[in-house]
This record gives sequence, C-alpha cells and structure tokens, in this order.
Amino acid sequence: MDTPIDFKVVTEKIKANNITDFSKATIRQIKKLVDDIQQETGDKYIRMEMGIPGLTPSKIGIEAEIKALKAGIPAIYPDIYGTRELKKEISRFCKLFLNIDVDPEGCIPTVGSMQGSFASFMTVNRIDPQKNTTLFIDPGFPVHKQQHHVLGNPFENFDVYNYRGDKLRDKLESYLSKGNISCILYSNPNNPSWICFTDKELKIIGELANKYGVIVIEDLAYFGMDFRQHYTKPGEPPYQPSVTKYTDNYILLISSSKAFSYAGQRIGMMVVSDKVYNIKSENLLKNYIFDTFGKAMIFGTIYSLSSGTAHTPQYALAAILKAVNDGKYDFRKDVLEYGEKAVIMKKLFIDNGFKIVYDMDEDNPIADGFYFTLSYPGFEGHELLKELIYYGVSAITLSITGSERTEGIRACTSLVHRSQFPDLEYRLKKFHENHPPK
Ligand SMILES: Cc1ncc(COP(=O)(O)O)c(C=O)c1O
Repeated sequence: MDTPIDFKVVTEKIKANNITDFSKATIRQIKKLVDDIQQETGDKYIRMEMGIPGLTPSKIGIEAEIKALKAGIPAIYPDIYGTRELKKEISRFCKLFLNIDVDPEGCIPTVGSMQGSFASFMTVNRIDPQKNTTLFIDPGFPVHKQQHHVLGNPFENFDVYNYRGDKLRDKLESYLSKGNISCILYSNPNNPSWICFTDKELKIIGELANKYGVIVIEDLAYFGMDFRQHYTKPGEPPYQPSVTKYTDNYILLISSSKAFSYAGQRIGMMVVSDKVYNIKSENLLKNYIFDTFGKAMIFGTIYSLSSGTAHTPQYALAAILKAVNDGKYDFRKDVLEYGEKAVIMKKLFIDNGFKIVYDMDEDNPIADGFYFTLSYPGFEGHELLKELIYYGVSAITLSITGSERTEGIRACTSLVHRSQFPDLEYRLKKFHENHPPK
C-alpha cells in the first residue's frame, strides 16, 4: 500500500500493541502506538491524540515557584484548604472574570482539576441518599467517567448534539425529574467538541438545577479560550459564560493546565459557591465528622485524598492570578495560538474532504480553539483513526467520549507545530487521493 508511513511497520505495531478495536482504544494506547511507530520509522507524526499544552509555562508562575522553593517552603506542610494568598486571588478571579461573589473559604486549590472533580463526585453524592447519580452532558472527558468507575458511583449521560437550544430543557428534565441525579457535569468550552453553551442553554441548566436541587459541576478547563470573544479583561464584560449567572448551586473546576500552561505542577481550583459550601446534611455524617458540605469536602475528602495541594505550585498560581487580576497579564494572548492553528488545520482537513462533526453553537459556527472534531465520508470513527495512522496523523475516536457521532474523531491542535503544516497537507492530500469520496 502506498501510504506516507511504512504500511508494514504500522500494521505490525498495531498488532504488537494489541489494538484490535480502535473504537475502544484509549488516548494513552494511541500515544504508545504512535511512539512505537515513530521510533521504528523515524517519521514524525502529526500528533493530535493528547491534550497536552504545547506552549511554555507561565513565567510568572515559574519565578514565584523558584522563589518559594529557595525560601524553604517544601519543608512545610501546606494547609489543606490552601494558602491564604491563593484563596484570596481565586475569589478575586471569580469576581473579575465571572462577576460572582464567592467567599475565599470555598476557593480551594486541588491537585489538578482532576482531583477537584474526583473530590466533588465523592462528596456531592453523599448529601442526599436519594440522589447518588451524576448526569454528564456529553461529549466529555473520558477520565470523569473513569473516576465514576473507580468510585463505584453511578452515572447517566446523553450526547447534546441533537439537544441544543430550547430542546435542552425537556431532555434535561427527563433525567432530573426522576429524582436520582445529584449533579450535572459538562465542560465549557467542551472537550472534545469545542462547542460552547449559549447563554440560553446555560440559563436552562441553571433554572433546572434550581428547580430540582441539583449541583452543577461546571468544568472550565479552557477558561476564556472561546476566542470569538475577549473574556479576559478584568472586571469588564463580556464575562466567561457560566451557569453561575443563573444558579447558586455550583462547583466550578478551573484548571491551570491549559490557560496558564501549568499542567505539570498539577494544580487547579475548585470553587464551591457559598450556598453549596453551607449545605447541611445529616447524611454526610455517615462518612464525615462534619454535616456541612464545605467542611466535609476540605477536612474529609481533600484531607483523605492528598492532605492538600503541593505547596510551591500554590505560590506559582497565586502569583499568576494576581498578575491576571491586576490586569498585568492577559493569558488569552498566550493561548490564542491554539485558535490560530485550528483555523489553518481545519481548512487543510476540509479542503481534503473532511467535515467538522460538531460545527455549530445554535446559529453560530463553533469557535476555533484547542480541539475540533472530524469525519470523512464512508468511514466510521474507528476506521478513520486506524487509516489515518498509516498517513502519519493521530487522533482519538469520539466514541470514547460519550458521543453518539460514531463517525467522528477528535483532533487536538496543541502539539502540532506550524512547521508540520506542509507535512499535514501532503498526508491529507494523499489520504484524499487514496480514498475518493463516493
Ligand atoms: C475537560 C477537562 N477537564 C479537566 C481536565 C484536566 O485538568 P487538570 O490538568 O487541571 O487536571 C482536562 C484536561 O485535558 C479537560 O480537558
């Protein structure tokens, strides 16, 4: 077969890695496969499987962290609830970029936003014995479902593709009215599809959360990265769209991995609304010595998981947030590169017969950013992914994200260098030639 990457090597490596069904292959399995092929052939792939930030980490963070390291901070246990300075800056950040008031007490650093979601799922599902199930508005980040499997927590999910706008209300209500849902989780902008909920949709989610007493866990891993708008001017609208405008039943998960390129230090923010922080429930006493949600979360769950968050990254994040809050650092400028690359990459794919799967936010074309989704006529997602591996392009299937668009794959822009665009173009042209759409 005339493919850009040696056909025999790719076939051998797929077999050696035991990938019999690409629709079930995890991100890490694809990564390992591509690493193996690259090593054997010396060919460099267009790597779009993993959402690693492709930019240099925030300098402000590094300098603050070095200072803290030199000052001997590693010798001291961090407080479980986080350093005073960081809690203050997280609360300020919420005021300045979401226009919400949250007591610094509910602003809690976590070991990446992943720990924030794990801790939230664990604690939220213990408030009310009738409500033990999470509802995912999919597509979504597969690890959140893995966290449910690990915890043994039940979840339900639906693909929002056919339920945008007003249609979302009835669909959500069909789940919430059953009475078993404790929380709703979605990411916005969304991993993997990069759809962003409109204000109308966030209002629907917020109103129903109020009506059914459900907590919305809003994953803002890509805060401010819907580049159609400029959401990062402190204290000035437009603010990052969020359900917090419509309900006080929220926990926010704000990652520093992508917005501040600080993924390696595993530090994120969990923001618990004042209302949720102060929820009281006898049921919490089954697992905690506190009947107040916020205290159970910090002194029960977070204490048990990791006894707080590593100390010096808290200094880094506090310094980054202070600069952002003071208007001295507009992180949007640094991450805009993802959106600019997406414009070029999407065009290369579309020019060669591909289609964007999740393409609209109600009446508006989706933004260009960290991810986009693709399909090709005549292919299911798992077939497309396998075939693209022979063309030196890697991605993941949408089927592992709770999406019903089984024809789709997810592309991530972060690790693809602009210098690789000619290679990408050549490989996609070859793919198009070898697979003329019928
Ligand atoms: C939607 C979403 N949530 C959470 C995370 C993880 O964030 P963190 O690195 O802060 O744990 C990611 C990372 O890819 C993500 O895409």
